[in-house]
Amino acid sequence: MEFRLLLRPHHLLILILYVTSSFQFGSATGVLRVQRKFSGQRQLITELRAHDVRRHGTILIENSRGAVDLPLGGLGLPTATGLYYAQIGIGTPSKNYYAQVDTGSDILWLNCITCGHCPKKSDLGIELTLYDPKGSSSGRLVSCDGSFCSSTYGGDVPGCLSDMPCEYKVQYVDGSSTSGFFVNDYVQYNQVSGNHKTTTANSTVIFGCGAQQSGDLGSSSEALDGILGFGQSNTSMLSQLASAGKVRKIFAHCLDTINGGGIFAIGNVVQPKVNSTPMVSDTSHYHVTMKSIGVAGTSLKLSTDIFQTGDMRGTIIDSGTTLAYLPEDAFKPLMNAIFSYQPDLSFQTFQDFLCFQFSGSIDAAFPKITFFFENSVELQVYPHDYFFENGDGIWCTGFQNSALQSKDGKDIFLLGDLVLSNKLVVYDLENQVIGWTDYNCSSSIKIHDEKTGAIYTVDAHNLSSTARSLDIGKFIAVLIICLMFHLFH
Ligand SMILES: *[C@@H]1O[C@H](CO)[C@@H](O)[C@H](O)[C@H]1NC(C)=O
Ligand SMILES: *[C@@H]1O[C@H](CO)[C@@H](O)[C@H](O)[C@H]1NC(C)=O
Ligand SMILES: *[C@@H]1O[C@H](CO)[C@@H](O)[C@H](O)[C@H]1NC(C)=O
Ligand SMILES: *[C@@H]1O[C@H](CO)[C@@H](O)[C@H](O)[C@H]1NC(C)=O
Repeated sequence: MEFRLLLRPHHLLILILYVTSSFQFGSATGVLRVQRKFSGQRQLITELRAHDVRRHGTILIENSRGAVDLPLGGLGLPTATGLYYAQIGIGTPSKNYYAQVDTGSDILWLNCITCGHCPKKSDLGIELTLYDPKGSSSGRLVSCDGSFCSSTYGGDVPGCLSDMPCEYKVQYVDGSSTSGFFVNDYVQYNQVSGNHKTTTANSTVIFGCGAQQSGDLGSSSEALDGILGFGQSNTSMLSQLASAGKVRKIFAHCLDTINGGGIFAIGNVVQPKVNSTPMVSDTSHYHVTMKSIGVAGTSLKLSTDIFQTGDMRGTIIDSGTTLAYLPEDAFKPLMNAIFSYQPDLSFQTFQDFLCFQFSGSIDAAFPKITFFFENSVELQVYPHDYFFENGDGIWCTGFQNSALQSKDGKDIFLLGDLVLSNKLVVYDLENQVIGWTDYNCSSSIKIHDEKTGAIYTVDAHNLSSTARSLDIGKFIAVLIICLMFHLFH
């Protein structure tokens, strides 16, 4: 039997920032853990601003912040593309680029014209475009002595001479990586201007020009032009647009496994309403606090230790990951509870996936899983979410054991598209909360537009592509991504 499966290995989390004090690649002499040093301060700024708004009514900058509608394509099922991507315009004249949307990483980067091992074509059926800083009249190199570079690397960049570029490297656990240099150019996006309506707006944004891609990022299977990191660090496009006063630091996604694509919007979502859980402070990614796991309404008996948060522990929400990974001490009891509903199944494993033959309705035959979070927020995961069909009546389990994927990530709950799809997920960075609700991602949401004070309807998109499933079983576990500074020679 042929087993067709495609998994997206990019669990895009930047966990460690290495600063090399010499210019040799790999000769890191100082290792700096990224702490959210400024999170306290940032919170304070938000509070102060809220306070100011109350006192003075409105402030000009508040009025200029519009909502953004990012057209989305892709299909997050493991048997389809396994990812979601958005279209953005960059440069003068503007060209269209397709980038994977990823809440687990912090920069936007695109394959660059000088690229060594960039894919030339994509099996996703989209046309790839290389970014050429010289081909855009507004493209500028970002120098290593500028404030962006020094604040990204936490101080003066060792050995920096003026005119040297500010470089970056992002590395993934599957061995793939991207490195290059930062550039500054116009990004064009769709600003919401009415119900079902957008107009083009622009802003300059600093992003990575990928000069060298390795591993999976160089292959043409599911290749895109780059990755659009929606992390909360200052380097993300969202943070840059927010500090330019163009948008609020709130965004939402609704990833549609039924029709593909979905909704990805920046702005204050007023409908549907979501219940929110606090983000864990002092972590660099979208960490939340899970409290327990229920199977058809009954809580699993689990040690509370496994829900502890911290470095390489706790629960991470990551749209750049296809599946969902649980620590072994939660994974095994959960699997036992799920399969106790159908004790007579016979299992087969395919490429590390636990699969079984089943005819009939899996939603009727298996239990609903509920993840409980702080603030009594629940995330419901249905059998049709956590199982995926792989050919005639063969169903496979999307939940994975973190311990089998990576030593570093063995204690992490990593919640990817498997459990995030078909829900509206709202990331409110201003209030440091994340919320969600079950939702029809082919429909529309309502966003408050600060520019006019109106409430506008934003529709779902499905960027067309000839996406098809591929024979790939690359399986990556937990990600370790390093943002590395080094100079090329
Ligand atoms: C991030 O940006 C904010 C506001 O622009 C600034 O106050 C803060 O110092 C920056 N944080 C870092 C780590 O550079
Ligand atoms: C950016 O937007 C402004 C205002 O709409 C417009 O005049 C300008 O031509 C745009 N620039 C680019 C590079 O798109
Ligand atoms: C989801 O919304 C779309 C667009 O409004 C609609 O055509 C479709 O029937 C809805 N699906 C369900 C299951 O309600
Ligand atoms: C997305 O839209 C395209 C046409 O625009 C369609 O061919 C494709 O089937 C849609 N994707 C899904 C998963 O339905």
